[in-house]
Amino acid sequence: MPPSLAVRLGSLEAKNPIFSASGTFGYGEEMEAFVDPGVYGGIIGKSISQLPRGGNPIPRVAETPAGMLNSIGLQNPGFEGFMKDYLPRMRDYGTVLVVNLVGDTIDEYVEMARRLNEEEAVDAIELNISCPNCPEGGMEFGIDPRATEILVGKVREVYKRPILAKLTPNVTDICSIASAAEQGGADILALVNTYLGIAVDWRARKTILPGVTGGMSGPAIKPLALRAVWSVARSSSLPILGMGGISSADDVLEFMAAGASAVQIGTIQFVRPKAVLEILSDLERYLSEMGVTDISEMVGTLHSDFVVR
Ligand code: FUM
Repeated sequence: MPPSLAVRLGSLEAKNPIFSASGTFGYGEEMEAFVDPGVYGGIIGKSISQLPRGGNPIPRVAETPAGMLNSIGLQNPGFEGFMKDYLPRMRDYGTVLVVNLVGDTIDEYVEMARRLNEEEAVDAIELNISCPNCPEGGMEFGIDPRATEILVGKVREVYKRPILAKLTPNVTDICSIASAAEQGGADILALVNTYLGIAVDWRARKTILPGVTGGMSGPAIKPLALRAVWSVARSSSLPILGMGGISSADDVLEFMAAGASAVQIGTIQFVRPKAVLEILSDLERYLSEMGVTDISEMVGTLHSDFVVR
């Protein structure tokens, strides 16, 4: 019998541990030509804001060795546009559906969460408090424990299903932000969003991204993300949805051993849009080879006799 890939993050159950990361998957439709979105354990669309956003000037991405920088500027159709034009299609994918929300103000997050609370097809919301590319909101909330706790707490008052807090690694102590999100009432911690960086065209004496900085993702950040997941797993009792440079089944199992109950894959989908299929089949094979019957047995199994923090 093949091993069970089913996972549980608090009350959120998924048929396998692979979620699509927000911003790398559109709202699913673009991916349909490559892969049935229903094969993922869960899908998380691009962040939705109350009003539509056109995004930043181009270029919005810069390739780097083993990764990329992005500065999309949260382009999205706005809450009403999403509800009308995208959500109906996403409902039919037959997998866990998580809507990622971003706002300039607490009220904006709260209003959207209140509306989604009425929408039974949405299984959970992910609060983007970690976007490094917007002048207001986003990461502004996620770099300050008090702001994180207040925001999550206000959303908690109006949203009854699971709340994911998506954390930024661009802080001195991610564990204090994780703890603030937990205090506020988050059910799941999603980490990490991208690392701030810049790409330079020295001949032109210009940065490649017009907004100067961007968020770094891809395999180059995997060791940094693993360390963040491992640290938070040791300090928080909440389930973790880990991410950061995952591109193979080995990577997935590394994150799970470090303490993630499930993972999100992102940048690899720009390179290999069918990566999820290969990862799922390799996961089954590796677990069978190891004699593991249930993937959840892998969570938090990392051990070391000598730990340097
Ligand atoms: O620029 C962006 O839209 C990035 C969003 C994010 O990293 O959350």
